[in-house]
Amino acid sequence: MNQDAMKKQAAEAALNYVEGGVIGVGTGSTVNHFIDALATVKSRIEGAVSSSEASSVRLAAHGIPVFDLNAVGALSLYVDGADETNAQFQLIKGGGGALTREKIVAAASQKFVCIGDETKLVKVLGAFPLPVEVIPMARSYVARELVKLGGTPIWREGFVTDNGNVILDVRHLEITDPIQMEQQINNLAGVVTVGIFALRPADVLILGTPDGAKTVD
Ligand code: 5RP
Repeated sequence: MNQDAMKKQAAEAALNYVEGGVIGVGTGSTVNHFIDALATVKSRIEGAVSSSEASSVRLAAHGIPVFDLNAVGALSLYVDGADETNAQFQLIKGGGGALTREKIVAAASQKFVCIGDETKLVKVLGAFPLPVEVIPMARSYVARELVKLGGTPIWREGFVTDNGNVILDVRHLEITDPIQMEQQINNLAGVVTVGIFALRPADVLILGTPDGAKTVD
């Protein structure tokens, strides 16, 4: 079974958590499968808050109403993918560049269901280059500070986030204390968000495998 088929399996299994109201929807290829599956049960929900322009377009194309987070208050459920997860459901996210809105929607949600294929589960976070969203004028300063932390930041050239900022992808970080590193990088002047989701990890992990979707909670 290929990676995309495993992502689809996990996405479809996440429908079990969709009970009603307005739900949070993330970004990426796994979430695209979730949005397509959600369309088959759309009468169950009032609509969605989306973490990216791309997901908003896909939701709207399926006739699922998209709400501004400010208009709806707390969300009962957030479904999103990840680039890496450890066994504590602490994540690296932002491969698609939507990390800041993803972190906001995750923070505003009571339950965060993370979906992915089995390759996303790692022992130690950091083999996937860590995305950091940065205010454009701070790009070089933040890059120098990330080098001091042992990382090798690469500017994602030609990419602008939905918030008008830039992304540094940081290689060579072995993230043994994700909460500490999330706080440390978030505290750098000019950083909007680091793609470590450890202060608010996922609550449920659904991984597609060749033997079917496996849920851990
Ligand atoms: C986007 C993300 C995605 O959830 C992450 O990159 C996983 O993507 P995919 O489902 O395509 O593997 O954080 O910013």
